[in-house]
Amino acid sequence: MFRKVALVTGAAVGIGRAISHRLARDGIAIGVLDLKLAEAQTVADEIIAAGGEALALQANIADRAAVLPAVTALREAFGPVTILVNNAGITGFVPFLDMTDTQWDQMLEINLKGTFIVTQTLLPDMVANAWGRIVNISSSSAQSGAALMAHYSSSKGAMIALTKSLAVEFGPQGITVNTIPPRFVMNTAMSEESFKLPGMAERREPMRLAGPIQREGQPEDIAGACAWLVSEESGYVTGQIIGVNGGRYI
Ligand SMILES: NC(=O)c1ccc[n+]([C@@H]2O[C@H](COP(=O)([O-])OP(=O)(O)OC[C@H]3O[C@@H](n4cnc5c(N)ncnc54)[C@H](O)[C@@H]3O)[C@@H](O)[C@H]2O)c1
Repeated sequence: MFRKVALVTGAAVGIGRAISHRLARDGIAIGVLDLKLAEAQTVADEIIAAGGEALALQANIADRAAVLPAVTALREAFGPVTILVNNAGITGFVPFLDMTDTQWDQMLEINLKGTFIVTQTLLPDMVANAWGRIVNISSSSAQSGAALMAHYSSSKGAMIALTKSLAVEFGPQGITVNTIPPRFVMNTAMSEESFKLPGMAERREPMRLAGPIQREGQPEDIAGACAWLVSEESGYVTGQIIGVNGGRYI
Protein backbone atom coordinates (compact mmCIF):
# COMPACT_ATOMS: atom_id res chain seq x y z
CA MET A 1 0.00 0.00 0.00
CA PHE A 2 1.28 3.44 -0.91
CA ARG A 3 1.57 6.32 1.49
CA LYS A 4 -1.73 8.15 1.89
CA VAL A 5 -1.71 11.88 1.22
CA ALA A 6 -4.75 14.15 1.53
CA LEU A 7 -5.51 17.70 0.51
CA VAL A 8 -8.04 19.42 2.78
CA THR A 9 -9.26 22.80 1.55
CA GLY A 10 -10.42 25.56 3.88
CA ALA A 11 -8.40 23.78 6.53
CA ALA A 12 -7.21 26.73 8.65
CA VAL A 13 -10.25 26.82 10.93
CA GLY A 14 -13.53 25.14 11.76
CA ILE A 15 -14.59 21.93 10.03
CA GLY A 16 -11.54 21.78 7.74
CA ARG A 17 -9.18 22.10 10.71
CA ALA A 18 -10.97 19.26 12.53
CA ILE A 19 -10.88 17.06 9.41
CA SER A 20 -7.14 17.73 8.99
CA HIS A 21 -6.39 16.69 12.58
CA ARG A 22 -8.63 13.61 12.38
CA LEU A 23 -7.14 12.31 9.11
CA ALA A 24 -3.60 12.97 10.36
CA ARG A 25 -4.35 10.76 13.38
CA ASP A 26 -5.04 7.93 10.89
CA GLY A 27 -1.51 8.33 9.51
CA ILE A 28 -2.45 10.39 6.46
CA ALA A 29 -0.08 13.21 5.42
CA ILE A 30 -2.14 16.41 5.13
CA GLY A 31 -1.96 19.38 2.80
CA VAL A 32 -3.57 22.11 4.92
CA LEU A 33 -4.78 24.53 2.24
CA ASP A 34 -6.44 27.86 2.89
CA LEU A 35 -6.51 31.49 1.84
CA LYS A 36 -5.10 32.22 5.30
CA LEU A 37 -1.53 30.93 5.34
CA ALA A 38 -0.62 31.85 8.94
CA GLU A 39 -3.62 29.95 10.36
CA ALA A 40 -2.98 27.02 8.00
CA GLN A 41 0.62 26.94 9.24
CA THR A 42 -0.63 26.79 12.83
CA VAL A 43 -2.76 23.73 11.99
CA ALA A 44 0.17 22.07 10.20
CA ASP A 45 2.42 22.79 13.18
CA GLU A 46 -0.14 21.26 15.56
CA ILE A 47 -0.34 18.10 13.43
CA ILE A 48 3.45 17.78 13.28
CA ALA A 49 3.73 18.38 17.04
CA ALA A 50 1.27 15.49 17.55
CA GLY A 51 3.51 13.18 15.48
CA GLY A 52 1.79 13.54 12.11
CA GLU A 53 2.81 14.91 8.72
CA ALA A 54 1.47 18.16 7.27
CA LEU A 55 2.28 20.99 4.90
CA ALA A 56 0.59 24.40 4.98
CA LEU A 57 -0.46 25.67 1.56
CA GLN A 58 -1.94 28.98 0.44
CA ALA A 59 -4.33 29.28 -2.49
CA ASN A 60 -7.72 30.56 -3.52
CA ILE A 61 -9.48 27.37 -4.66
CA ALA A 62 -11.16 29.30 -7.47
CA ASP A 63 -7.79 30.38 -8.92
CA ARG A 64 -6.41 27.56 -11.04
CA ALA A 65 -3.03 29.30 -11.37
CA ALA A 66 -2.68 29.29 -7.55
CA VAL A 67 -4.06 25.79 -6.96
CA LEU A 68 -1.62 24.07 -9.31
CA PRO A 69 1.61 25.13 -7.53
CA ALA A 70 0.06 24.32 -4.14
CA VAL A 71 -0.80 20.80 -5.29
CA THR A 72 2.63 20.42 -6.86
CA ALA A 73 4.27 21.39 -3.55
CA LEU A 74 2.18 18.79 -1.72
CA ARG A 75 3.10 16.06 -4.24
CA GLU A 76 6.78 16.95 -3.96
CA ALA A 77 6.63 16.84 -0.15
CA PHE A 78 4.74 13.58 0.34
CA GLY A 79 3.95 11.90 -3.03
CA PRO A 80 0.74 11.45 -5.07
CA VAL A 81 -2.36 12.95 -3.51
CA THR A 82 -5.15 10.37 -3.56
CA ILE A 83 -7.50 11.84 -0.94
CA LEU A 84 -9.32 15.15 -1.38
CA VAL A 85 -11.69 16.88 0.99
CA ASN A 86 -13.38 19.83 -0.71
CA ASN A 87 -14.33 21.78 2.39
CA ALA A 88 -13.48 25.43 1.59
CA GLY A 89 -16.53 27.57 1.07
CA ILE A 90 -18.20 30.88 1.75
CA THR A 91 -21.70 31.76 2.85
CA GLY A 92 -23.97 34.79 2.63
CA PHE A 93 -27.41 36.01 3.60
CA VAL A 94 -29.35 38.18 1.15
CA PRO A 95 -33.06 38.45 0.34
CA PHE A 96 -33.50 36.82 -3.04
CA LEU A 97 -35.03 39.92 -4.67
CA ASP A 98 -32.04 42.03 -3.56
CA MET A 99 -29.39 39.51 -4.65
CA THR A 100 -26.96 40.98 -7.16
CA ASP A 101 -25.25 39.25 -10.06
CA THR A 102 -21.95 39.82 -8.24
CA GLN A 103 -23.16 38.08 -5.07
CA TRP A 104 -24.53 35.16 -7.08
CA ASP A 105 -21.38 34.82 -9.18
CA GLN A 106 -18.99 35.00 -6.21
CA MET A 107 -20.87 32.23 -4.38
CA LEU A 108 -20.85 29.92 -7.40
CA GLU A 109 -17.27 30.88 -8.25
CA ILE A 110 -15.86 29.75 -4.91
CA ASN A 111 -18.17 26.99 -3.71
CA LEU A 112 -18.72 25.27 -7.05
CA LYS A 113 -16.03 26.33 -9.53
CA GLY A 114 -13.38 26.15 -6.80
CA THR A 115 -14.43 22.57 -6.08
CA PHE A 116 -14.26 21.81 -9.82
CA ILE A 117 -10.76 23.30 -10.16
CA VAL A 118 -9.23 21.55 -7.14
CA THR A 119 -10.84 18.23 -8.04
CA GLN A 120 -9.70 18.40 -11.66
CA THR A 121 -6.16 19.25 -10.54
CA LEU A 122 -5.91 16.24 -8.18
CA LEU A 123 -7.84 13.51 -9.97
CA PRO A 124 -4.95 12.46 -12.24
CA ASP A 125 -3.03 11.28 -9.13
CA MET A 126 -5.99 9.10 -8.14
CA VAL A 127 -6.43 7.73 -11.67
CA ALA A 128 -2.70 6.91 -11.89
CA ASN A 129 -2.90 4.98 -8.61
CA ALA A 130 -6.26 3.33 -9.42
CA TRP A 131 -7.41 4.47 -5.96
CA GLY A 132 -8.94 7.65 -4.67
CA ARG A 133 -11.31 9.16 -2.16
CA ILE A 134 -13.12 12.49 -2.60
CA VAL A 135 -15.41 13.98 0.04
CA ASN A 136 -17.33 17.15 -0.79
CA ILE A 137 -18.63 19.17 2.14
CA SER A 138 -21.97 20.47 0.85
CA SER A 139 -24.80 21.68 3.11
CA SER A 140 -28.19 20.54 4.38
CA SER A 141 -29.51 23.85 3.00
CA ALA A 142 -29.36 22.15 -0.40
CA GLN A 143 -31.78 19.50 0.91
CA SER A 144 -34.11 21.67 3.00
CA GLY A 145 -33.82 25.02 1.23
CA ALA A 146 -32.82 28.11 3.21
CA ALA A 147 -34.32 31.59 3.15
CA LEU A 148 -31.85 34.37 2.28
CA MET A 149 -29.39 31.74 1.04
CA ALA A 150 -30.61 30.93 -2.48
CA HIS A 151 -27.13 31.47 -3.94
CA TYR A 152 -25.44 29.42 -1.18
CA SER A 153 -27.92 26.52 -1.24
CA SER A 154 -27.79 26.45 -5.06
CA SER A 155 -24.01 26.19 -4.99
CA LYS A 156 -24.20 23.37 -2.44
CA GLY A 157 -26.93 21.56 -4.37
CA ALA A 158 -24.68 21.67 -7.41
CA MET A 159 -21.89 20.14 -5.30
CA ILE A 160 -24.21 17.20 -4.58
CA ALA A 161 -24.87 16.78 -8.32
CA LEU A 162 -21.13 17.05 -9.02
CA THR A 163 -20.50 14.36 -6.39
CA LYS A 164 -22.90 11.95 -8.05
CA SER A 165 -21.57 12.60 -11.56
CA LEU A 166 -17.94 12.10 -10.55
CA ALA A 167 -18.89 8.95 -8.64
CA VAL A 168 -20.33 7.50 -11.84
CA GLU A 169 -17.47 8.65 -14.07
CA PHE A 170 -14.56 7.57 -11.83
CA GLY A 171 -15.96 4.60 -9.91
CA PRO A 172 -14.59 2.12 -12.45
CA GLN A 173 -11.12 3.53 -11.71
CA GLY A 174 -11.25 2.80 -7.99
CA ILE A 175 -12.23 6.30 -6.92
CA THR A 176 -15.16 6.98 -4.59
CA VAL A 177 -16.87 10.37 -4.36
CA ASN A 178 -19.30 11.17 -1.56
CA THR A 179 -20.73 14.25 0.09
CA ILE A 180 -21.44 15.25 3.67
CA PRO A 181 -24.07 18.02 3.92
CA PRO A 182 -23.71 19.42 7.46
CA ARG A 183 -26.50 21.21 9.22
CA PHE A 184 -25.41 23.84 11.73
CA VAL A 185 -21.95 23.00 13.04
CA MET A 186 -20.87 25.17 15.95
CA ASN A 187 -17.45 26.51 16.84
CA THR A 188 -16.60 27.57 13.29
CA ALA A 189 -16.13 31.07 11.90
CA MET A 190 -19.06 30.52 9.53
CA SER A 191 -21.57 29.47 12.20
CA GLU A 192 -20.45 32.19 14.62
CA GLU A 193 -21.10 34.80 11.90
CA SER A 194 -24.50 33.24 11.13
CA PHE A 195 -25.62 33.47 14.75
CA LYS A 196 -24.85 37.22 14.80
CA LEU A 197 -27.66 37.79 12.28
CA PRO A 198 -30.87 39.38 13.59
CA GLY A 199 -33.17 36.80 15.17
CA MET A 200 -30.65 33.96 15.03
CA ALA A 201 -29.47 33.97 18.67
CA GLU A 202 -33.02 33.20 19.88
CA ARG A 203 -33.30 30.28 17.46
CA ARG A 204 -30.20 28.54 18.78
CA GLU A 205 -31.80 26.65 21.70
CA PRO A 206 -34.95 25.54 19.79
CA MET A 207 -32.68 24.32 16.98
CA ARG A 208 -30.59 22.33 19.44
CA LEU A 209 -33.69 20.57 20.77
CA ALA A 210 -35.47 20.03 17.45
CA GLY A 211 -33.75 16.84 16.27
CA PRO A 212 -33.56 13.35 17.76
CA ILE A 213 -29.95 13.94 18.87
CA GLN A 214 -30.43 16.96 21.10
CA ARG A 215 -27.09 18.66 20.96
CA GLU A 216 -25.29 20.99 18.57
CA GLY A 217 -23.11 19.62 15.79
CA GLN A 218 -19.36 19.98 16.25
CA PRO A 219 -16.55 20.01 13.66
CA GLU A 220 -15.38 16.66 15.06
CA ASP A 221 -18.73 15.08 14.08
CA ILE A 222 -18.06 15.90 10.43
CA ALA A 223 -14.40 14.86 10.75
CA GLY A 224 -15.33 11.41 12.10
CA ALA A 225 -17.61 10.64 9.15
CA CYS A 226 -15.03 12.02 6.75
CA ALA A 227 -12.31 9.76 8.20
CA TRP A 228 -14.43 6.71 7.40
CA LEU A 229 -15.30 7.95 3.91
CA VAL A 230 -11.60 8.29 3.00
CA SER A 231 -10.67 4.91 4.54
CA GLU A 232 -10.25 1.53 2.86
CA GLU A 233 -13.39 0.29 4.62
CA SER A 234 -15.72 2.62 2.70
CA GLY A 235 -14.68 1.35 -0.74
CA TYR A 236 -18.17 0.12 -1.69
CA VAL A 237 -19.78 3.49 -0.85
CA THR A 238 -19.91 6.08 -3.61
CA GLY A 239 -22.21 8.83 -4.86
CA GLN A 240 -23.81 9.02 -1.43
CA ILE A 241 -25.11 11.89 0.66
CA ILE A 242 -24.04 11.09 4.23
CA GLY A 243 -26.14 13.21 6.61
CA VAL A 244 -24.22 14.16 9.77
CA ASN A 245 -26.92 16.30 11.28
CA GLY A 246 -28.28 14.72 14.45
CA GLY A 247 -31.15 13.32 12.40
CA ARG A 248 -32.53 16.75 11.56
CA TYR A 249 -32.81 18.39 8.13
CA ILE A 250 -34.63 21.67 8.83
N1 LIG B 1 -20.57 25.51 10.00
C1 LIG B 1 -21.75 25.13 9.52
O1 LIG B 1 -22.75 25.22 10.23
C2 LIG B 1 -21.87 24.54 8.14
C3 LIG B 1 -23.12 24.03 7.75
C4 LIG B 1 -23.26 23.49 6.46
C5 LIG B 1 -22.17 23.46 5.61
N2 LIG B 1 -20.98 23.97 6.00
C6 LIG B 1 -19.86 23.93 5.04
O2 LIG B 1 -18.73 23.37 5.65
C7 LIG B 1 -17.55 23.97 5.11
C8 LIG B 1 -16.68 24.49 6.26
O3 LIG B 1 -17.47 25.35 7.06
P1 LIG B 1 -16.91 26.11 8.35
O4 LIG B 1 -18.11 26.42 9.17
O5 LIG B 1 -15.76 25.37 8.94
O6 LIG B 1 -16.42 27.45 7.64
P2 LIG B 1 -15.36 28.57 8.13
O7 LIG B 1 -15.79 29.84 7.49
O8 LIG B 1 -15.22 28.53 9.59
O9 LIG B 1 -14.01 28.07 7.44
C9 LIG B 1 -13.91 28.05 6.04
C10 LIG B 1 -12.44 28.13 5.65
O10 LIG B 1 -12.39 28.14 4.20
C11 LIG B 1 -11.46 29.12 3.81
N3 LIG B 1 -11.81 29.59 2.47
C12 LIG B 1 -12.89 30.31 2.12
N4 LIG B 1 -12.85 30.60 0.81
C13 LIG B 1 -11.70 30.04 0.32
C14 LIG B 1 -11.10 30.01 -0.95
N5 LIG B 1 -11.66 30.65 -1.99
N6 LIG B 1 -9.94 29.34 -1.10
C15 LIG B 1 -9.34 28.73 -0.03
N7 LIG B 1 -9.87 28.73 1.20
C16 LIG B 1 -11.04 29.39 1.37
C17 LIG B 1 -11.56 30.22 4.83
O11 LIG B 1 -10.40 31.03 4.85
C18 LIG B 1 -11.76 29.43 6.13
O12 LIG B 1 -10.53 29.14 6.75
C19 LIG B 1 -18.02 25.06 4.17
O13 LIG B 1 -17.99 24.60 2.85
C20 LIG B 1 -19.44 25.31 4.59
O14 LIG B 1 -20.25 25.81 3.55
C21 LIG B 1 -20.81 24.52 7.25
